[in-house]
Amino acid sequence: MMRTVTIANRDNATFQVDHRKPLLDSLRANGVDLPYGCKYGGCITCAAKLTAGEVHQGAQVALNNRQISHGYVILCVARPMSDITLEIGVESHDKLYRNPFLDPLEPHELKPDIATPKDI
Ligand code: FES
Repeated sequence: MMRTVTIANRDNATFQVDHRKPLLDSLRANGVDLPYGCKYGGCITCAAKLTAGEVHQGAQVALNNRQISHGYVILCVARPMSDITLEIGVESHDKLYRNPFLDPLEPHELKPDIATPKDI
């Protein structure tokens, strides 16, 4: 089945892609210049932000729950489950990495030996 992929930060360019193929391969075959590294879902280089629709990315191991909750998807393993809209490239990575000064860790995210005050 063909799905429509809209790339919001490329003038809303649209592409028809096969839902069985990884988005990285489909978009690159359509001439979209995308960064990638490992191509098996482990290195995060190909991350993009999903702003509408759904993907299946069960094989990815690069993203943590915080990144997933911000909409990140791993294009080398993600397949579109519906028509989707993406932001791609490094400009989509604003929430991929945490700035510890602007976005400090919550207590429950700290390692226990840091979060628990030690008896002095
Ligand atoms: S290229 Fe490494 S996670 Fe996609």
